[in-house]
Amino acid sequence: MVLLCDGRLTCGCADPYGRRVLGDTRTTSVTGVWTGEVASALRRDIVSGGSKFCGDCPLKLPLKKDEAPPARPLDAGALPGRLFVECTAACNISCNQACCAPETGITRTRQAGMLDFDLFTRVIDEAGPSLGRVDFFNYGEAFLHKRAVEMCEYIKSRYPDIFLYTSTNGLAFNDASARRLVHSGIDEVTFSIDGASQDTYVKYRQRGDFAKALANLRAMADEKAKHGRDVPYLNWRYILFKWNDHDEEMNTARRLAVDIGVDRLCWEITDHPEDSFSQRFRPGTADYKTIENQTWDHSRLSNAIPGATPRARIDVRTLVPALPIMARRGKTLQLHTRVTNLSNRRFAAQASYGRRLVRLGAQLCAADGTLINLDYARAWLPHHLEGGQHTDIQIEIPTPAEPGRYQLKFDLVSEGIDWFEKSGSQTTRKNLLVV
Ligand SMILES: C[S@@+](CC[C@H](N)C(=O)[O-])C[C@H]1O[C@@H](n2cnc3c(N)ncnc32)[C@H](O)[C@@H]1O
Repeated sequence: MVLLCDGRLTCGCADPYGRRVLGDTRTTSVTGVWTGEVASALRRDIVSGGSKFCGDCPLKLPLKKDEAPPARPLDAGALPGRLFVECTAACNISCNQACCAPETGITRTRQAGMLDFDLFTRVIDEAGPSLGRVDFFNYGEAFLHKRAVEMCEYIKSRYPDIFLYTSTNGLAFNDASARRLVHSGIDEVTFSIDGASQDTYVKYRQRGDFAKALANLRAMADEKAKHGRDVPYLNWRYILFKWNDHDEEMNTARRLAVDIGVDRLCWEITDHPEDSFSQRFRPGTADYKTIENQTWDHSRLSNAIPGATPRARIDVRTLVPALPIMARRGKTLQLHTRVTNLSNRRFAAQASYGRRLVRLGAQLCAADGTLINLDYARAWLPHHLEGGQHTDIQIEIPTPAEPGRYQLKFDLVSEGIDWFEKSGSQTTRKNLLVV
């Protein structure tokens, strides 16, 4: 659900003008809305094929001919697992032809300008125990709210295990508030900066100040480095338009990202505004292929910063490499591996809140390579593994109970994020014979 800045709850983030309201936290508890008549009827309608409530929602996926509606449980528990929090629908810039540009009158569709702090704490206090993730943004610019940083602190101090994420244009911070947010515990911050110079940046982010956005991003990176913090993970998300999609400009962004010390630079491929999106990198073009694994949606590990996409080599040591590994059923196998970091970024052995630490994983596959168990075995890195370094890791692997031929597939995993293979890293396969 999305908590609008006036306290109403809507069903999703693709509803800029608040047309699909499930209830109101000013008069009802979160549980009351989540299990209330509107939400319950919506669930019933969806499992029986469609709902009028959805209206023109762009996230709606029509059923194909003869396709059965999704079989989802009608009982969704007492509280949601994920919440968007909108501090305000107001914005300090006007994105070109955007649905949430101030000129659209979006703020007049809300019954309050700024989210009331006490209402916010009431919602978080109630929903916090069930929430796995809070997206601290919606339409507008969250950090225009004078207490936005305090709200992030509130969430992470009460519920440190909630994954707290925000997307910002970065223009409402000053040096002090940017640095303060770093210490809030927020897990990930995305800066929306679509260009590598003021001239191209303002073509979409009208009235924006490129230098200011960059300075605030730099302040956060600097504060992290100074205090040896691994969170927040800092993204620079760069939407490709026809005026910022040339090699020179994209390379300037890559250089700036390295210089500032951001964790990830990613290209966002968009299809709007219709007269402005990048034709050069339209999906399907040859140029798109060259940057596909640097795009936001490709994998959560993909990165446009040269050398930053995780790459590893995994050598599994066996007595006779050409022969399958032999094992007795029910016994535990001890395998010796050597893992080499082929990227120029650290593989962290430990991480705040346990997310983004890197472990070696063994997946169990059938003899023809078909996956049986993705999470079959894991081993910890003995220490942080810097770019170019290698380390030896012993991994304990249970032997399948059924005798026969199998494969073991080894890959590294950034816990809570993705397998390295998703971003193009090579895996290692070994045949396994269980007797
Ligand atoms: C509407 S903005 C609001 C949050 C915040 N003010 C910001 O700029 O990040 C939410 C997200 O939409 C993205 N966005 C804005 N215009 C877009 C476009 N034309 N295509 C794809 N994403 C877009 C932004 O980059 C941002 O990540």
